[in-house]
Amino acid sequence: MSTLSIQALSKRFGNTLAVDSVSLTVAGGEFVGIIGRSGAGKSTLLRLINRLNEPTDGSVQYDSTVVSALKGRALREWRRDCAMVFQQFNLVGRLDVLTNVLMGRLTSVPTWRALLSAWSDADKLAALETLDRFGMADFAAQRCDQLSGGQQQRVAICRALMQQPKIILADEPIASLDPRNTQLVMDALAAINRDLGITVLCNLHSLDIARSYCQRLVGMTAGRVVFDGVPDALTEDIVSELYGIEALGVQPAASLHDSQTGVVLPFAKAALAH
Ligand SMILES: Nc1ncnc2c1ncn2[C@@H]1O[C@H](COP(=O)(O)OP(=O)(O)OP(=O)(O)O)[C@@H](O)[C@H]1O
Ligand SMILES: [Mg+2]
Repeated sequence: MSTLSIQALSKRFGNTLAVDSVSLTVAGGEFVGIIGRSGAGKSTLLRLINRLNEPTDGSVQYDSTVVSALKGRALREWRRDCAMVFQQFNLVGRLDVLTNVLMGRLTSVPTWRALLSAWSDADKLAALETLDRFGMADFAAQRCDQLSGGQQQRVAICRALMQQPKIILADEPIASLDPRNTQLVMDALAAINRDLGITVLCNLHSLDIARSYCQRLVGMTAGRVVFDGVPDALTEDIVSELYGIEALGVQPAASLHDSQTGVVLPFAKAALAH
């Protein structure tokens, strides 16, 4: 199993040190929850791994590949290997479910095929099988903007799977979902991790969900890792340190830049740029 190794990774935005000398080793097949209050650096950490953000310092390595040094085709392949799942789904609402899922193949097929929607039968079958696995095959022909949030997130997860990733980086995948859909989406991520052996790194606001789904929790405060261990080792003192007043039941504010990033299909942009 391949290992993701993050060493002294930092990211500065102006005066803000969003990620501050983070070192982490994640073994292949782990399900890691990243927790911490709003602004702690969780999204930036995932974006540094995927290279949507460039580090100010430090490195990301995957086995012997120095991710932080990849360029061109190798970088596109890395982005295919670590699929992102976003809070806002980032689907193309006016397109049907099947097409959105097929877009997960963009980095593996010639651009003209995607532009002409000339997907192979094998890709279509794989997309339908993936949708079926998560109870979404019946919606294949429906426009994505006609689906509920939970259904859209399951479509986004199917699209991520079509990339045949080694790692899934999920940034608050359940933040805008009700309890029932939260469970469906987290169950989908757990199944992917368990059955396909795909490593999952998942940013979560809900401590209860993080505790019940993740084998390992990484707690961040002000860009630094202040906790790294099994959920049972997360004491009330550490929770207070992580969340401060939020631990008393006040919900953290929604992050502005997260919704702003809305990063329109970063993988699509990367694929079409070449
Ligand atoms: N593109 C950017 N430009 C400037 N500052 C940024 C940018 N992205 C993040 N930051 C800042 O870096 C810090 C960490 O942000 P980040 O989005 O990683 O936090 P987070 O833990 O994901 O928060 P949330 O739980 O609200 O999503 C914050 O202070 C944020 O304002
Ligand atoms: Mg975030």
